[in-house]
Amino acid sequence: MGQIDEPNLMRPMISLPGLNHNSAQIDRMTPMTQKPRALSSNEFSNGTSADTPKLEIQNSGNVLTIHWNDGRNDGTHSRYHAIWLRDNGQDPDTRDPGNGQKLITLQNIPADTAIRSATLNPQSQIEFVFSPDNKHTHIDLNWLKANRYDDVGDPTLLSENIITWGRELAGDLPRTTFQQATEDPKCLIQWLEHIDRRGFAVMSGLPSQSHVNHYPILEAIKLLGYVRETNYGQVFEVRTETNPVNLAYTGQGLQVHTDNPYRDPVPTLQILGCLQNEADGGDSIVVDSFRAVEILRKESPDYFELLSTFHARFDYQQSNDIHLHTSKPMICTPQGQVTGIRFNNRSCHTLRDIPFAKMEDYYRAYRRFGQILEDPQLAVTFKLNPNELFVVDNTRVLHGRTAYSSTGTRWLHGAYADKDSLKSRLSVLRQQYSDSGITAHPNNA
Ligand SMILES: [Fe+2]
Repeated sequence: MGQIDEPNLMRPMISLPGLNHNSAQIDRMTPMTQKPRALSSNEFSNGTSADTPKLEIQNSGNVLTIHWNDGRNDGTHSRYHAIWLRDNGQDPDTRDPGNGQKLITLQNIPADTAIRSATLNPQSQIEFVFSPDNKHTHIDLNWLKANRYDDVGDPTLLSENIITWGRELAGDLPRTTFQQATEDPKCLIQWLEHIDRRGFAVMSGLPSQSHVNHYPILEAIKLLGYVRETNYGQVFEVRTETNPVNLAYTGQGLQVHTDNPYRDPVPTLQILGCLQNEADGGDSIVVDSFRAVEILRKESPDYFELLSTFHARFDYQQSNDIHLHTSKPMICTPQGQVTGIRFNNRSCHTLRDIPFAKMEDYYRAYRRFGQILEDPQLAVTFKLNPNELFVVDNTRVLHGRTAYSSTGTRWLHGAYADKDSLKSRLSVLRQQYSDSGITAHPNNA
């Protein structure tokens, strides 16, 4: 549970006439048209605490309002619908006590479900009885507060978890060593948090390649999840080749881009590990597109709207057996919050999902977004050395490289993985080590 902003549940419960002195039960119905009022302190007399949350059933049992009254949220309240409460019951017939998975479907809940009674018990649970089927269940009060959905406001452009950055990050690249991440959970947590919150991190000190089929980056990927195999294989080589199937395998500079926008879903993490880098040039470039999106929306909301509303097309064909193609917005904004971008000029296919009247403006927006992404103020340029790798959130952080000479060798291994496993690993590590002095966000503010 969260550590802040929680009701003080150790205080005495509300005592009402005719009820057990350790519980609060309110069966009265008040019309939903009445806005819940803040309760005055004298309503908590007779030995009860003003910090005790108070329950109010409204709208013929269709809504429960909790007046938090916890001292830190004085006068605030949260409303919950009966159908939502019933769906989230924590009794063993509704959710498996072991794995928390739901044991019922919505069809098991009457469509006319209503709250008959709600009682706060000494275990800080609200005990419910629902009509018309006399269903008894309970929900933890802290859980209800953590999962409140009433008046949470419009979503911000970016998740609160996100930290955006520009070229200033070059002076302090988020990094750890393979040994530290392997041996010290604190270092691993911090490194994973960098990827989770900044979308980028470096790791040095990788094991050297011991034989031709040894891929050191796969050992690093085990620290954050699982490799994602594609038509490029589990690991792909990035170095100069004749007749390359992809421009990434030549010595040309590469405009910053996200990889594989033609897939659905895209690989959400990309890992590039260096084996040799003796070429002149070939520096790595990373750009936080979320910073660019912030700039774009501020200077031109219309451009932001165009790129997040209409679909671009992405396409990749390799020989006669691979043809990957998608139609997706360049800026993905489900429910109004930016969750990812696809930006790759090489793979951008014919645009034909944009209305005639919007096409010219769409091109203006696309051009401007590209200009912002290529602004040197946003670019972090660094030399990736042998036995180093970097990880990018491929839905957010663009990568590219400066051109490099054909003399000397620049040889990288690339691979993909996914954020769901990284987030899982991070969540589990935080749970395991939160009680051992390892804090969650020591350097990420
Ligand atoms: Fe790439």
